[in-house]
Amino acid sequence: MVLLDVKNLTTHFFLKESRVRAVDDVCFTVEQGKTLGVAGESGCGKTTTALSIMRMLPPAGKIVKGEVMLEGVDLLKKSKEEMRQAKWKELSYVFQYAMNAFNPVMTVGEQIAEVIIEKEVSKSKSVKKEAWNKVKESFELVGLDPSRIKNYPHEFSGGMKQRAIIAMAMACDPKLLIADEPVTALDVIVEKKILKLLKEIQTSFNLGIIFITHDLSVIAESCDDVAIMYAGKMVEVGDAATIFHKGAHPYTRMLIRSFPSILGECERIEPISGLPPDLTNPPLGCRFHPRCPIATEECHEKIPPFEPYSSSKHHVACFHAGDSIL
Ligand SMILES: Nc1ncnc2c1ncn2[C@@H]1O[C@H](COP(=O)(O)OP(=O)(O)O)[C@@H](O)[C@H]1O
Ligand SMILES: [Mg+2]
Repeated sequence: MVLLDVKNLTTHFFLKESRVRAVDDVCFTVEQGKTLGVAGESGCGKTTTALSIMRMLPPAGKIVKGEVMLEGVDLLKKSKEEMRQAKWKELSYVFQYAMNAFNPVMTVGEQIAEVIIEKEVSKSKSVKKEAWNKVKESFELVGLDPSRIKNYPHEFSGGMKQRAIIAMAMACDPKLLIADEPVTALDVIVEKKILKLLKEIQTSFNLGIIFITHDLSVIAESCDDVAIMYAGKMVEVGDAATIFHKGAHPYTRMLIRSFPSILGECERIEPISGLPPDLTNPPLGCRFHPRCPIATEECHEKIPPFEPYSSSKHHVACFHAGDSIL
């Protein structure tokens, strides 16, 4: 069942003399209890997509168009107060670098309790007690010793802080969790443990997860579905097996080839040459055409539609989808 349906999401940053087209006409869905991995090079709009869904954009960022349907209700039509209520309870967010954002002078437990209490109308003693019980439960959920709720952030290792951030995100039982680069700052062993933890939580709570990363090899290990973004556009979406074995967009294929571990040891590693475009002035036509080995005249001129390809779920935006890029 579809939990989140994002339709034609378009978010731009309005600067003094320019406009950054950070997210343009992006469509994807997240199934209940499944993980959608969102991948693409730095600066392609992954974080902006997440912040748009949460309605937590910085002041220059404006959602120009689109729908963000969570269980059939458009989050973009909610009032500020309704959205405040939905945050943490319906959908929650582990933001990029969050584990470095703990307040150093408050205990980790206090900071999680604050999130829970903020959701309640009354701030009575019983609410506070209930919140602390929830904090303990959420510590247990993420494999942290509940006796450490009174510890300060500096008393936690990186992996423990990331667990605490996940505890905070799960404290109000959301249906959807958006995790933006949740393992990027961690070493490989801790990374594997956090990925396992997310999987366990997902299974217990039938949680839908959007897992954002620039590292496609992490997605290969942990996601059911995959969305590939390039320069503010969604270029390909499908289930993980389809994307990794039958990816049809040249960018998807080139991105996979640029990661050593995905296709096995004997494959050549081929970094993608060139850089993603400046999004204040993106290329006309297909935004990938300046770096694409098979681009034709048509790709310079027309924007390729994002259309079903090998199945109704597999969508690709390319005039030459599936053509060899050798
Ligand atoms: N606050 C901001 N003001 C202006 N431009 C921004 C802001 N945040 C992000 N951008 C721009 O939006 C684009 C997408 O950025 P982002 O969503 O952070 O990408 P990613 O998460 O994929 O690395 C980039 O071109 C970036 O420079
Ligand atoms: Mg980002």
